[in-house]
Amino acid sequence: MKMLPIKNNVYYLGSKDINRKLFDQLIPLPQGTTYNSYLVVGSEKTALVDTMYPKKIHELIDKLDAEGIKKVDYIIANHGEQDHSGALPTLVAKYPDAKIVTNAKCKDIVQNLLHLDEEKFHVVGDGDELSLGDKTVKFILAPWVHWPDTMFSYLKEDKMLFTCDFLGAHYTKNDLFADYTDELVEAAKRYYAEIIMPFRNFAKKYTQMVKGMDVEIIMPSHGPVYDKPEFILNLYDLWTSDKVENKVVIPYVSMYESTKMLVDELATHLRAKNIDVKLFDLVNCDEGELTMELVDAATVVFGASMVLAGPHPAAVTAAYLVNAIRPKVKYYAIVGSYGWGGKLTETLESMLTIIKPEKLDYIVVKGKPTEDDLKKAADLAALIAEKHKALQAN
Ligand code: FEO
Repeated sequence: MKMLPIKNNVYYLGSKDINRKLFDQLIPLPQGTTYNSYLVVGSEKTALVDTMYPKKIHELIDKLDAEGIKKVDYIIANHGEQDHSGALPTLVAKYPDAKIVTNAKCKDIVQNLLHLDEEKFHVVGDGDELSLGDKTVKFILAPWVHWPDTMFSYLKEDKMLFTCDFLGAHYTKNDLFADYTDELVEAAKRYYAEIIMPFRNFAKKYTQMVKGMDVEIIMPSHGPVYDKPEFILNLYDLWTSDKVENKVVIPYVSMYESTKMLVDELATHLRAKNIDVKLFDLVNCDEGELTMELVDAATVVFGASMVLAGPHPAAVTAAYLVNAIRPKVKYYAIVGSYGWGGKLTETLESMLTIIKPEKLDYIVVKGKPTEDDLKKAADLAALIAEKHKALQAN
């Protein structure tokens, strides 16, 4: 295994994890992911930028050994989460003179997780610089994409920016540089939806900030390196904007087809009005696809059977997830069916504590929907179409 040269003595030492099936034990990874680590060799000092997921430490060490890297002066930690900081104990043991360069918040997180010697750290603040001789690293604090400790590192002379999790992707089909395919867009969107979208306003701010910088290469900590920064920045411009699509996302669970009848009736009428409808049967749902579709959907409709005296737990989980990832949906509704009673809408509504979409309608029927009930679904479709039309006019 070899380091891959990027430009001007900057190298990629990342690891592919194609067998990883879930991220955060939550979002399916169709291709796995990568953990990116970089080596910057200056005329006087050498810096490693971010480390590795603990289970892949051996790959990073093998690459450093294969290249005969005997001395690392600095290990820059842009973020404390262990898919990037997890190899720090191994590396400070391997390179005992190396200093861990990070910000105060990240140091605090790293110390809580890894318990390293205090003297190993060199703490930097926003705008501080570190000289490697002919190269200068400038540190830019960028909290909340997606933890409070995140920072970017900018190689001034080479116009290269290490963005850590920001602008990343769970994508493993390239070796180094982005291939700029639709598949990469999908992977980056899946990643954005879970990791970055909950902090959309910060992401919007940092997107504009990076666009205003003189950056020729973007090097995130997951996925490909971008030698055309505008590709990923333009996607982030779109995803972080307030603009929504003429789209309705319907996560639903139906025990005896009654809720599904309502969902199908609603979907049929929405599609007849040229609204893009994405149905997710929560029993066989890829949560990554659900979150991706929510990136730009205007409306979400939860469909739930009643189980015992409340909404089916799959629907509760979906509502919790939707609330947690904070999509920019403008409207929501609930449809469902019950056998003998219980509280369906109240529980689902109570999940939406962070996002505040406008409530459109709740359609809850006893048993199998009647013709009148199905008419209500058609009416809900008409209301959604009217609301979306008004959005497009604005
Ligand atoms: Fe890829 Fe927040 O760690």
